[in-house]
Amino acid sequence: MRERVTPLLSEAQIRTRVQELGMQLSREYAGKDLVVVGLLNGVFPFFADLVRAMELDFDVSFMQVASYGGGMESTGEVHILKDLDRSIQGRHALVVEDIVDTGLTLFKVSNLLKDREPLSLKICTLLDKPSRRKVEVPVDFIGFTIEDHFVVGYGLDLDGKLRNLPYVGVYQP
Ligand code: IMP
Ligand code: MG
Repeated sequence: MRERVTPLLSEAQIRTRVQELGMQLSREYAGKDLVVVGLLNGVFPFFADLVRAMELDFDVSFMQVASYGGGMESTGEVHILKDLDRSIQGRHALVVEDIVDTGLTLFKVSNLLKDREPLSLKICTLLDKPSRRKVEVPVDFIGFTIEDHFVVGYGLDLDGKLRNLPYVGVYQP
């Protein structure tokens, strides 16, 4: 599979950008009671690097939703497979995602989390594909804005595979 991947963002590019985001988030949330929410599975490498670049004290918690039935197209349906293990009520919540594509996943996840009355709810994504958006979602922190390519690596998968590539590349079927 990996022989069909053309590199798009190198490990060094990702590392530099993640450090910048970490510093930006450290300023944004200084002195605040924060829960950083990771959306599994795709977020795991980005999440691990990002939280270590944040020089603050905060809680982490994970949520898993399924938006893809497999393959390369969003179904528009979101099921909760795993919910947060702590409350975000009256606290600042930062949702971290690997990629915002149609926006359907984050649209549903943010509505669901807003009902739990956090003090604030912001979104940080490694990648943004704005040309594919079907619903408007405010994305507050963006690593890289990319063209309409199907990308894999650094957490992003094709049918569960290729998440372990240390860089992001375009998959050519
Ligand atoms: P959305 O609901 O269409 O915004 O899609 C969000 C989810 O779709 C992401 O969390 C990814 O799991 C998946 N996804 C969207 N685009 C890509 C891609 O280019 N490569 C791999 N997964 C993707
Ligand atoms: Mg995902």
